Amino acid sequence: MSKIDVSKYFTPDLKQARKRTNQAIEELKFELSDAHKKIGIDKFYFIHTYGCQGNEADSESIAGILELMGFAKTEVEANADVIIMNTCAIRENAENRVWGELGRLKAYKRTNPDLIIGLAGCMPQEENVVERVLKKYQHVDLVFGTHNIYKLPEYIETALFSKERVIEVYSQEGEIVENLPKVRNHKYKAWVNIMFGCDEFCTYCIVPYTRGKERSRSREEIIQEVKELAEQGYQEITLLGQNVDSFLWFGGGLKKDFKKASEMAQATAVDFAQLLDLCATKFPKTRFRFSTSNPQDMSLDVIHTMAKHTNICKYIHLPVQSGSNAMLKAMNRQHTREEYMELVDNIYKIIPEMSLSQDMIVGFCGETEQDHKDTLELMEYVKYDFGFMFAYSERPGTLAGNKMDDDIPNSIKKRRLQEVINLQQEHALYRTQQHLGKTEEVLIEGTSKKNPNEWKGRNTQNTVIVFPKENYKMGDFVMVKVEDCTSATLKGSAVGYSDNN
Ligand code: SAH
Ligand code: SF4
Ligand code: F3S
Repeated sequence: MSKIDVSKYFTPDLKQARKRTNQAIEELKFELSDAHKKIGIDKFYFIHTYGCQGNEADSESIAGILELMGFAKTEVEANADVIIMNTCAIRENAENRVWGELGRLKAYKRTNPDLIIGLAGCMPQEENVVERVLKKYQHVDLVFGTHNIYKLPEYIETALFSKERVIEVYSQEGEIVENLPKVRNHKYKAWVNIMFGCDEFCTYCIVPYTRGKERSRSREEIIQEVKELAEQGYQEITLLGQNVDSFLWFGGGLKKDFKKASEMAQATAVDFAQLLDLCATKFPKTRFRFSTSNPQDMSLDVIHTMAKHTNICKYIHLPVQSGSNAMLKAMNRQHTREEYMELVDNIYKIIPEMSLSQDMIVGFCGETEQDHKDTLELMEYVKYDFGFMFAYSERPGTLAGNKMDDDIPNSIKKRRLQEVINLQQEHALYRTQQHLGKTEEVLIEGTSKKNPNEWKGRNTQNTVIVFPKENYKMGDFVMVKVEDCTSATLKGSAVGYSDNN
């Protein structure tokens, strides 16, 4: 097969993306030029979002930019003039789904030759993805990554008027772009990014390559966004980052340079526990969540801050990945099984009703039956409320992809995954049963999928509760008495508004 010359495009480079220098973080402000303001008038957009909450938040910015340009959202894909696939690269099957969908979209070009199909998010940050698009997906008009969403107006203009394919992906460490417009997907709950990127380089993981270096957003920008959301009536805000516990703001600069910062900067610095405290104190009517916590960076200050405020939800997503020290080491996780268990002990000691969830990878390189048993045993110890479990999927360009042998046969991965899922289900049921008979505060998020006469909401522990609608409405905080449960859902009836309403 002939190699296509990709030199005229900004092609991604995973080696480059791995670099971490001392370069300061630049803060850019998004602004839309007058020339771009009317491009989308009478045109429609449709966005598909895959992957994590970070991507969901990015899709809200993509929608925000498109709407500022005059585009309107359509619920009917076939009517769209711009279709954006905001993609995830975390596992091979996540990518395969997108390749299939991209193939399907081609048919729309027959009825609408001016349609722009865009590939965005984490997948285009990989070299092999861009090469495959160039070779086999001629109908994809626009490719951009996670670092250059703010340049979308220019790209759309070129794709629409010059009819050129636009492919631009930056393999840089990353800056922070403020002032991005957002069209929020929910009416009562919202995401607020507090940090971007990841410097952990767990050996299996592509995220540090697709999202750049770890950088914290300024305290002022975060508080300002939270304030605006609270004023607009958002009841629940999730502070977002790949490793929120690593948040540190001291007036700019990289975390590793903190010790060299001026006395003044050090004295006024804010870490994650302090940021949480600030948010919960300033906005007492707003309920706060956060995600994701990395066990190695989570301080007990965070747990004490959670205990201090009723408006910080009692739920921590605390991925561990494996219960075996050998696997944790091979994965380059910076914590042992024992350290993790000690953290969990402390969490339950400070907040006994805390709900915890895990991410678990089974079948990582070299995983023995004993390693797998260690995982099951750790789960038995913690009894997580929820879990997200995956079979290891080799990612080209990562340390494990380059240097380790993906040696566990699929059949074994599958069996181990099933065992982990079954055990998690048992624990989830054990946890939901602990809510029976209790009356809990719930934020109504919408109608239950199964019954149009019931509301669906979540309690502080993030457990889903359904109950008859009566006179309540979406966005209300209500007290619900829990009467029944499955492993995934609580059932109850409302007994009145909560004091927070
Ligand atoms: N920053 C978060 C996780 C982001 S990725 C954290 O550190 O916890 C979400 C989850 O996907 C990970 O926790 C991990 O369980 C899973 N994952 C990441 N890379 C994977 C891979 N190559 N194969 C299978 N699962 C993977
Ligand atoms: Fe990936 Fe590890 Fe970073 Fe999480 S902490 S995003 S698993 S490298
Ligand atoms: Fe996927 Fe990128 Fe998030 S790889 S999990 S969308 S950071």
